[in-house]
Amino acid sequence: MKRYLLSVFTLVTMSAVAQTPIDVDKEFAFATQQYERMLQTHPDTTKFPQSTNPDGSIRDMKSDWWCSGFFGGSLWFIYERTKNPTWKDAAQKWTMAVAKEQYNTGTHDLGFMIYCPFGNGYKLTKNEAYVPIMLTGAKSLSTRFDPKVGLIKSWNKFQEYSYPVIIDNMMNLEFLFWAARKSGNKEFQNIAITHADNTLRNHFRPDYSSYHVICYNPDGTVAAKKTAQGAADGSAWARGQAWGLYGYTVMYRETKDKKYLDQARHIADFYLNHPNLPADKIPYWDFNAPNIPNEERDASAGAIAASALLELSTYGGPSAKTYYQSAVQMLQSLAGPAYKATLGENNNFILKHSVGHKPGKSEVDTPLIYADYYYLEGLLRYDALRKKHGAKS
Ligand code: GLY
Repeated sequence: MKRYLLSVFTLVTMSAVAQTPIDVDKEFAFATQQYERMLQTHPDTTKFPQSTNPDGSIRDMKSDWWCSGFFGGSLWFIYERTKNPTWKDAAQKWTMAVAKEQYNTGTHDLGFMIYCPFGNGYKLTKNEAYVPIMLTGAKSLSTRFDPKVGLIKSWNKFQEYSYPVIIDNMMNLEFLFWAARKSGNKEFQNIAITHADNTLRNHFRPDYSSYHVICYNPDGTVAAKKTAQGAADGSAWARGQAWGLYGYTVMYRETKDKKYLDQARHIADFYLNHPNLPADKIPYWDFNAPNIPNEERDASAGAIAASALLELSTYGGPSAKTYYQSAVQMLQSLAGPAYKATLGENNNFILKHSVGHKPGKSEVDTPLIYADYYYLEGLLRYDALRKKHGAKS
């Protein structure tokens, strides 16, 4: 009963804060103060801020964990906003801390690990030393593509299956497009397109929700449709829907192929029209979690979806305004007290209330570094677009 009341109270609070206007300067001022503290508590660049442990202590991870690039990437966003060289130095330091992962062929997550820090750093500084690191990383990622299957392998094993591919893998493709442009080697781009096409074919249900894990046979046929982090094989794991939305939006940006735009719009419509999406538009960790409304929200899914919807809104169409307004509402919610930490709390992360892996009982209702990363990216995208939409703040 106590839990139920807390949940009702939280829902009312979360809905009420959706009206808070977004002051991007204020949000970055807060991020700056919070991450100053994060830097002070992290003198060792082999320990990457990730989340909070069940006992309340900071949870750090090594560079081979899939999230190691998000801290450096977030520092680049702060530098982009502040133009303060102190942040450039910090971003450079935490970016180079991931460099050795360029040789890592044991993971598909090199888009997150390498492209988020080095890609943002290169965009802002044109530091040519980053280019060979990124190209080596893209080559390492490409080794996980088997042309007979037509997809990049995500994990080396899942249950009894040896070729699992997760929807999250769509987030690596932007890195391959960059590598194709930079190197002139179209093979990177061909891999990205083949992966996206096969994911479009096999990962989605008729309502445009996606499975988390599709397990393939060596000939590219589907062996099984599963979940790892969702509530059930047939459920719509919230962050997976956000990864797909972001991934197909990027595919349209990179190729201008309308089928990817259509796919991104279908995913957006599934997400935004879902009866279990709360009023503040920050989803439960799974749209089909069994005990809604007594389930944790996932701020990370909200931040990823907000950033993706802002880009999707720039590609026109009858729902462009809805996508923009929904994204703004998501950012407003995240910027409000229900999700945003107060100074010095939350182990110095910006956002509270994300879910990493609920079935694995890991990182449930905690801060997550990638929630912060996509929140900051979303704020920058919002700031770039808001004048066009006549927003005052
Ligand atoms: N597997 C990456 C994620 O948790 O979204």
